Amino acid sequence: MQKMAVFNSVIGDHIITLQSIGSTNEYLQAEIKKGVDIVDGTVIVARHQFAGKGLETNKWESAPGKNLILSVFLKPAFLKAQDQFMLNKMVSLSVLDFINSISTTTSNKVKWPNDIYMDDKKVSGILINNTIGGNDILFSIIGIGINVNQQAFESDAPNPVSLTQIVNIELELDRCLNSLISFLNIRYQQMKSSEIQKINTDYLNSLYRYNEYHFFYFNNCKIKARIIGLGEYGKLKLIREDQSTIECDMKEIQFIL
Ligand code: BTN
Repeated sequence: MQKMAVFNSVIGDHIITLQSIGSTNEYLQAEIKKGVDIVDGTVIVARHQFAGKGLETNKWESAPGKNLILSVFLKPAFLKAQDQFMLNKMVSLSVLDFINSISTTTSNKVKWPNDIYMDDKKVSGILINNTIGGNDILFSIIGIGINVNQQAFESDAPNPVSLTQIVNIELELDRCLNSLISFLNIRYQQMKSSEIQKINTDYLNSLYRYNEYHFFYFNNCKIKARIIGLGEYGKLKLIREDQSTIECDMKEIQFIL
């Protein structure tokens, strides 16, 4: 009740916990395809996810019972399809807020478009699948994986880290989930209200390697450039040392860590 009154929230009023599932994102997609009516803001949580999906063809590794694995179902009717990157910003900042609430001994940042980094290591990945109809977002499935209590990683993911490796204690997953949901509600409310500018500013200020020269692969060529902001549809804008600018999508740019 209090949560409703304070944040006018929808996220997490319905939580479905699955003991074991291939992928929470795919579970939601399949339920929708079957015609199941999912309530706006429903959260699907998995204790064990054995075929987690990452961006493109990547897999998401998660040891059973160790991490936060969830998908949030949203119907952001107020948002136009062309502005869908706002969801990436909103969710990234929510996860970052949660990570900052656990530890700020590291520098915690959003690596564009929506990885969460603690120093130079990835603690969380986000996979958003939007279903578009005309100019509208019919619904969005927002998959979030956060490495919480996993001690070792087996996959070839280059630089994973978990919260427990940073803070040296085991964290209580249900408390983490409730806390994350609160941060999601705060940021979702900001996005729905006149505070949308705050989301834009906070996202930019939280960007990993913002405004610093670093090496990247741009269309497979090594370049030195500085992130200067976002372009249309959330594309990443960079400037090279010769002052020429680049605006690129995810397939075109790779950070060199
Ligand atoms: C990435 O960094 O490549 C994105 C990883 C997203 C992982 C989460 S875990 C919950 C949800 N279900 C999935 O299959 N993937 C997302």
